Amino acid sequence: MRVRFVWADSCFFPKTLPVDLCSLGYQNQLCIDFSEIVISQMRQRYESIPIEWRVMDVREMDLPNDHVDLAIDKGTLDAFLYGSMWDPPDEVRANVNKYVDNVTRVLKSGARWIYITCRQPHFIKPLLARENWDIEVERLNDDAGGFEYFVFIMTKHIA
Ligand SMILES: C[S@@+](CC[C@H](N)C(=O)[O-])C[C@H]1O[C@@H](n2cnc3c(N)ncnc32)[C@H](O)[C@@H]1O
Repeated sequence: MRVRFVWADSCFFPKTLPVDLCSLGYQNQLCIDFSEIVISQMRQRYESIPIEWRVMDVREMDLPNDHVDLAIDKGTLDAFLYGSMWDPPDEVRANVNKYVDNVTRVLKSGARWIYITCRQPHFIKPLLARENWDIEVERLNDDAGGFEYFVFIMTKHIA
């Protein structure tokens, strides 16, 4: 199966996930980050792995509409968040909106965006809400007293 992935940043956690998926047969991955340093380090580290690493701002993705089967984010959207989550500053709302609108644009019909974060659903869901996708939330809990993580799964409606 050939799947077009976009990782919303290249130093995904766990850091070998794109590489692990590649070894499982998911060979059409694009990993993006707006840091040239991050991208050049990842390119060097995984030189022998057929993954495309590209410098790109998630708020202005240089990708066609309806192009991506699965996008995954851990830590990129989080990097936009500061201030009170009860009433995020205008800059936070603007950056998140640009990013989320871009994801809805590049996803194919029926495709998914997975966003992993420790931020709670009552803060995050309103920021992710769009008319053209459904949102499900799963809770990751290891019972070891660590951070609780949430997995937001956005499925774009079939056009
Ligand atoms: C908190 S780190 C996440 C690292 C890793 N995914 C993890 O979970 O440990 C955030 C990453 O997002 C990248 N980033 C922040 N804003 C970005 C943007 N507008 N476009 C693309 N990448 C961005 C940063 O360069 C950084 O590599």
